[in-house]
Amino acid sequence: DISCKLAGIPLSCCLLNASGPRSKSFEQLAAVAGSWSGAVVSKSATLNERLGNDLPRYTEVPLGDRTASVNSEGLPNHSLSFYTEALVRLREVSPKPFILSISGLSLDENLQMLDYLEQSSARAHLSAVEVNVACPNVPGKPLVGYDLPQLAEVVRRISEHRLFRDRVLGLKLPPYLDAPFFDQVANMLNPLARAKGGSLGYVVCCNTLGSALAVDVDSEATVLHPKGGFGGAGGALVRLLALGNVRHFRQRLDASIAVVGCGGVASGEDAFALILCGATCVQVATQHHIEGSRCFQRIAAELQQLMRRKGYLSLADFRGKLRVA
Ligand code: DHB
Repeated sequence: DISCKLAGIPLSCCLLNASGPRSKSFEQLAAVAGSWSGAVVSKSATLNERLGNDLPRYTEVPLGDRTASVNSEGLPNHSLSFYTEALVRLREVSPKPFILSISGLSLDENLQMLDYLEQSSARAHLSAVEVNVACPNVPGKPLVGYDLPQLAEVVRRISEHRLFRDRVLGLKLPPYLDAPFFDQVANMLNPLARAKGGSLGYVVCCNTLGSALAVDVDSEATVLHPKGGFGGAGGALVRLLALGNVRHFRQRLDASIAVVGCGGVASGEDAFALILCGATCVQVATQHHIEGSRCFQRIAAELQQLMRRKGYLSLADFRGKLRVA
């Protein structure tokens, strides 16, 4: 049994797509809905459509047997209203939970999007809104998740929005690299927990690691064009950081705030390790981009096989039970 409950949302499979890869168009979202993914997570929306940064803006770099990704997409998306309409259309063919990711370029834009959702007829079908405070790729917009005073203001104002009186709030965080950040962010988020009358249901650990640079030795040029070639690294490059971030936050957050693992999951063993560190469920990004929506069934089968070998019947049998050697 690899089902789970994410902040009260039942997921038939603990593997789901991460916001970003293959989650921008209606056809891509429909493919996720028709796959083994436990939910459908949309590409981060802004109030208005964005074309994103100039090409080339995505590349893959082999790292041993694994693959790292670097992207500088710049939030290309079809606008919030497109994703609410897509949700209504998907609901006609799939009962799967729908998680809408938003990534406004300002607190005000995020609050405007929440106002829109509050009024929208799609609201009833929306399982959660995942607010991304970790996009590293918009020129001139520093990453909110690393500016702790700004992050505190953003999460407080967002969590107080009336949409979250009966919808789940998720927060997509950047990878943190130093212990005081885990303490400070957890102390900031704990009072917003649902168990304490707040609305924060889960955090996702973690988004890409910024300031990565893919270099092409033949041409002696950057591989990507936007922002001088810099981008956010994902896949194999962030797998160990995701494990560490999940573990750090699980050790510090109120039990009513779920931790979702995200970073470099390409196999059932990778998913198992994140759950062992305390993840409630696991998002797949780079591997979904590479393999397409069949990845969820393959990884799920690998996870089930590993659990059978170990004699585990459910995720709760090993979740958070990592031992220190
Ligand atoms: C983009 C990249 C991210 O890592 C993110 O969190 C949001 C958006 C992007 O470039 O589109």
